[in-house]
Amino acid sequence: MCGIIGMVGEGAPEFVVRGLRTLEYRGYDSSGIAVAKGGVVFVQKGVGTIDRIVSEPPEGVAAIGHTRWATHGGVTEFNAHPHLDCSGKYAVVHNGIIENHTALRQELVGRGHVFTSETDSEVIVHLFEEGVARFGDYEKALNYVLSKIRGQYAFVILTADGAILAARNGAPLLVGRSENATFVASDPVPLLGVASEIYRLRDGSYAVVTRAGAHISGEAQRVPEISARRVELGGYAHYMEKEIFEQPRALRDTLDYLRREEISLELDGRVHLLAAGTSYHASLYGEYLLRRRGIDARAFVASEYGSWKGREPDYIIAVSQSGETEDVLSVLRNQEGPEVVAITNTPGSTIEEYANTVIYTRAGPEVGVAATKTYTTQLLVFAHLFSGERPDKLPELAGQVIESAKPLAERLADELARKNNAYFLGRGLDVVTAREGALKLKEISYIHAEAYPAGESKHGPISLVENGFPVFFTASPDTFDETLPNVHEMRARGAEVVLASSEPSELAEYWFSVPHVSEVIFPMLSVIPWQLVAYYTAVRRGLNPDRPRNLAKSVTVR
Ligand code: F6R
Repeated sequence: MCGIIGMVGEGAPEFVVRGLRTLEYRGYDSSGIAVAKGGVVFVQKGVGTIDRIVSEPPEGVAAIGHTRWATHGGVTEFNAHPHLDCSGKYAVVHNGIIENHTALRQELVGRGHVFTSETDSEVIVHLFEEGVARFGDYEKALNYVLSKIRGQYAFVILTADGAILAARNGAPLLVGRSENATFVASDPVPLLGVASEIYRLRDGSYAVVTRAGAHISGEAQRVPEISARRVELGGYAHYMEKEIFEQPRALRDTLDYLRREEISLELDGRVHLLAAGTSYHASLYGEYLLRRRGIDARAFVASEYGSWKGREPDYIIAVSQSGETEDVLSVLRNQEGPEVVAITNTPGSTIEEYANTVIYTRAGPEVGVAATKTYTTQLLVFAHLFSGERPDKLPELAGQVIESAKPLAERLADELARKNNAYFLGRGLDVVTAREGALKLKEISYIHAEAYPAGESKHGPISLVENGFPVFFTASPDTFDETLPNVHEMRARGAEVVLASSEPSELAEYWFSVPHVSEVIFPMLSVIPWQLVAYYTAVRRGLNPDRPRNLAKSVTVR
């Protein structure tokens, strides 16, 4: 999704370009930068990558930059941010939605303002221009803008004399400080290792940044050190590869944290779990464990929660690795009755504002768009809270699975890279792993993949199966015997069977060995082969798994 970065201080333009590169993982279609120098704002922007658009910015004392993921207005140079006001003295970059932009635009045009884009964002900078003309003061002008606009937003305005004004409401925005500079960003990643302190603006608050320092209105929350660790690729080809291989460490850190902090939850009543994508799959796992304990639990895709017509829950468990997924936040914003528990990998993220209790996964920052280590650690949190098992050996077992699955996954990827479709099947909790496997494969390798309960496959999906059609089975020790007949059915129709299980089967052309563990632990191990297969297949297809088309790491729009 859109990314914002800005700096006041020496070397601001270079920092902003570097920062934009670190935001690339979020996904974008256009990019741009504005630089203040000698009382003038210079803008470079356009459709395409940062390196193509803004590789050599002009020098200046302050700068802002943006990666855009189009929502209002097509992917064009005019619609790329930053947007200038009529005088050319102010530039704005914006994430989110200005809901009343149409009415504001009409009013501004009526007062002589000329618009150059189709975006909702451009009204901000014209309003700011009016505010400065009216009040002769940047802070008052900013308050004038805030009094006029409605919606969810984070925006940053650069002035020609080198000040930055930043405001947020419902979209993340951070202010960072070092000895000689002040930074703003929508995401902590560009600030890691650069800012010595990072603060998260609260909804409805703003910051005014000049060379003299930053003034923040209201309360700002200091981002804990833990999430401020620098993200480096090390020797890996991609972040996704690194993050898959990091899982033993991520699981160990999460387990240590859960035990050290004695994290527990007593839920007495009806529970709804809310999440999107991979986190939804983790919620299905949570739902299963809760139901096993006799708790009335139900997992929802957050964007569909509005159509729930049943009784209100007593508790909501909201799962979001980023803590910024708008589909989840928009539900939480409107909840008053239930107690909210958030499970997130991002300390200081917006989800915390809506939660009574926050539980962390300690996976460390995840940069690859496809969730991997955050998924297995989410499962671990649920297992710790609701299974009564002690998964002491889990990190070590995850390491063994990675090591044994890697060469096989690479070999399989050579073949899979030439296919167009695949099924992922399983029974019971293995359906959750099947869903996650299918999502991983489709999102980064662009191979169409669907997941079904294995028994359901013969009620329709099997009609697509012919010679060489890849079918991935996940079968835990608890479901193995029941799943075998479905493997036979697929083999009989020429399917190429790939199996992740503790016992081998001569029916499988590729067998990924998963340690013999309980049904609770098995999903945290059996998903690893599917992560590796998806990763290597994308690489074989010449794709960048860290940046799949049309996807963003943090989905901050509904
Ligand atoms: C898939 C993936 C997405 C996210 C989804 C929710 O690999 O990464 O499906 O899981 O966008 O994101 P969070 O967990 O940040 O709320």
